[in-house]
Amino acid sequence: MPTRTTTGVTHYHVQKKRRAKFLEDWRANRRTIIASEDVTLHDSGRGHRVGVYVGVDGDKPTRTMDALAHEFDPGTTTTLHRHSWDVMVFVVAGWGWTEIDGERIEWGPGDSLHIPPWAWHRSGNDGDGTARYLTFSCEPLMDTMGMSVLEDAGHAEVSTLPGRPPYTEGPDGDDPYARRVRRVAREQRARRGGRLHTSWDDLELLITPRGTRTTFLLDRAIGYQASGMTMVMFEIARGRAQSMHRHPGEAWLYVVEGTGHSYMGTEPEGGDNHPWKKGDLIIVDHFLWHQHLNDDPENTAKVVRIHMFDSLLETMRALTDPLVLFEEPPDHIRDAQAGDPSTIEWPAIERPTWP
Ligand SMILES: [Fe+2]
Ligand SMILES: [Fe+2]
Repeated sequence: MPTRTTTGVTHYHVQKKRRAKFLEDWRANRRTIIASEDVTLHDSGRGHRVGVYVGVDGDKPTRTMDALAHEFDPGTTTTLHRHSWDVMVFVVAGWGWTEIDGERIEWGPGDSLHIPPWAWHRSGNDGDGTARYLTFSCEPLMDTMGMSVLEDAGHAEVSTLPGRPPYTEGPDGDDPYARRVRRVAREQRARRGGRLHTSWDDLELLITPRGTRTTFLLDRAIGYQASGMTMVMFEIARGRAQSMHRHPGEAWLYVVEGTGHSYMGTEPEGGDNHPWKKGDLIIVDHFLWHQHLNDDPENTAKVVRIHMFDSLLETMRALTDPLVLFEEPPDHIRDAQAGDPSTIEWPAIERPTWP
């Protein structure tokens, strides 16, 4: 590598050009709805099939998270692997299992899992039908920092493999180094003790002022220790809507059940409507005002929302304050959009089905 700078232009001009190009390239990459039929599944070499909703390996690059679909035929056991990023899993079909650092978790439709960074894991299907789940990982964010690492161990015994990266317990002392070692160790202990599984049977949906009823799937509020990704499910009543709001991009909604459309616009009026149906992924990517509406007068719509609010978005809010990164209309407009929740009759909560 040369060690002498030979460029004739200034740092200012290089940077200005690079930044303009980055955003220009990125804008060509915006999307709104990824239909389930546009996600092609491929044999993975791990023994299952995998397809990309959004992510660079499916030519749909993202900056913070990716979204993939995975399918497992009966009798499948995938290879064992681990990586430096964590993953949120939402099961949409079949009965199978995932082993995380040797701990076996049985799952069914509607269950959610958290796979922590550096945990050896594999999944399988002992049932008689195809099993399918979606994964949402923070690999793109790790990649922007040069910290994506993946190791595949084939069908090795997990007990013969090295555990998660070791860390040093803190020494006594009040110097900055001792404080850092203790702080990092404390954080790792907590991070490695998080919850791994939410069963569909334990979900309890609560009505919110935004006109929907919702439940945490994977969130620190219910004991998960994730990279800042959080997963919530909400249900829109028959023919009703969630109130409008806006926030930064890479907030995604996976349609578990139902048909409807999302309004998206730079202003609360005059934007575009984007229809969606079961199995689609709605991409809220442009800091647009958006509202999700259930078009079915007979059935509710269930949607799983994933975003990185708990780390990246909080950091962005701190760094860009006083810019407002999460906006809702005034309460009276919100309430008009949401409608009176007391008039809604909610159905029993059934496990999702696929297809
Ligand atoms: Fe994985
Ligand atoms: Fe949103």
